[in-house]
Amino acid sequence: MQFKLSEEQTMVRDAAREFAQTELLPGVIERDELQQFPDNLVKKMGALGFMGIMVDPKYGGSGMDTISYVLIMEELSKVDASASVMVSVNNSLVCYGIEAYGTEEQKQKYLPKLATGDWIGAFCLSEPEAGSDATSQSTTAIDKGDYYLLNGTKNWITNGGRAQVYLVIAQTDRTKGHKGINAFIVERDTPGFEIGPKENKLGIRGSDTHTLQFNDVKIPKENRIGEDGFGFKFAMKTLSGGRIGIAAQALGIAAGAYELSLKYSKERKAFGTEISNHQAIAFKLAEMATDIEAARLLVYKAALDKDQGNNYDTSSAMAKLYASKVAMQHSVEAVQIHGGNGFVKDYHVERLMRDAKITQIYEGTSEIQKIVISRAVLKD
Ligand code: CAA
Repeated sequence: MQFKLSEEQTMVRDAAREFAQTELLPGVIERDELQQFPDNLVKKMGALGFMGIMVDPKYGGSGMDTISYVLIMEELSKVDASASVMVSVNNSLVCYGIEAYGTEEQKQKYLPKLATGDWIGAFCLSEPEAGSDATSQSTTAIDKGDYYLLNGTKNWITNGGRAQVYLVIAQTDRTKGHKGINAFIVERDTPGFEIGPKENKLGIRGSDTHTLQFNDVKIPKENRIGEDGFGFKFAMKTLSGGRIGIAAQALGIAAGAYELSLKYSKERKAFGTEISNHQAIAFKLAEMATDIEAARLLVYKAALDKDQGNNYDTSSAMAKLYASKVAMQHSVEAVQIHGGNGFVKDYHVERLMRDAKITQIYEGTSEIQKIVISRAVLKD
């Protein structure tokens, strides 16, 4: 067992750290307030290889491992979780989904643009009545011979307003339950596809979250991913990798809140000394450091499982469950350590606290992770 990053992994982590500090940090408060994320920053992340981190270089990707992916996710998320969720969805759900399960034609058509940041992808599973209960899809994709007719509504779709490629999960044959579900690649300009209003969110406000509407959208047969009826398993398999990305995002939010708290506690004075000299603060920092390190080990374990070809359904759920709990708990503590300053935007921790909450909700709530984990442990 090794606990040392390779030279390449260290370099990529440092590049992500540098990018986060020099490019994401300036303007992060304004982007949160205005609910905007500029396209030029996506292009820059594309140029650095962050939009197709694990994609094979033959499709325009960076060809890195999952450990590198979580290192990048942690560094970006320390500063801007709105940027990192775009990166996570594009990498884990969209690029991975197409690369792992798409046809050669689909890979060649979509990956070179998605992996370089020319295009952004979105993953459309959630619906007004189907969030956690993902088999209860109301969106229908009826087989019409050489095309499918898509109808329905998708909710809370990350990158929803700016993506060019949407992976859409829909029910083709309700009598078959989850085996009647399919996944499709839908291009933005397909007639009948409408982008609905942008959500006004508590956190990750710089990320672009929309409702999507499909009204008699004709999807060519060749845009289905996998065999007929593979859509639900496609979603589950893809989400297992997505959960590694979101676990790394949660880790980054926690680590960002901790690093700001550490710095602040060594500068801020109260009762005649730096507040880090008070055990009330020092003990909080000790707990933060310990929990964050534990979360990091779980995140690395899940990433390593994926890199080594092991099953990572359970380890990714464990990493997400724990890291998101740590992010929530310790971002609240970070605000407490900052006192009144923590409650104002300039000190960043209030934003991290708001951003932390979504990590316990998307790509499966904490309760969903417990379903996945408890089923695995009870089976053994
Ligand atoms: N890999 C492969 N197959 C899997 C699987 C996996 N990880 N998990 C389940 N399956 C298979 C099962 O084996 C079963 O197949 P068989 O019948 O052939 O055996 C089939 O899928 C149905 O599985 P379950 O009976 O376990 O299904 P369920 O209805 O009990 O649901 C669940 C399981 C874990 C609760 C699932 O519905 C789930 O994960 N829900 C959460 C959905 C989610 O994460 N949504 C997030 C939206 S995306 C998002 O947030 C992106 C974003 O914008 C950031």
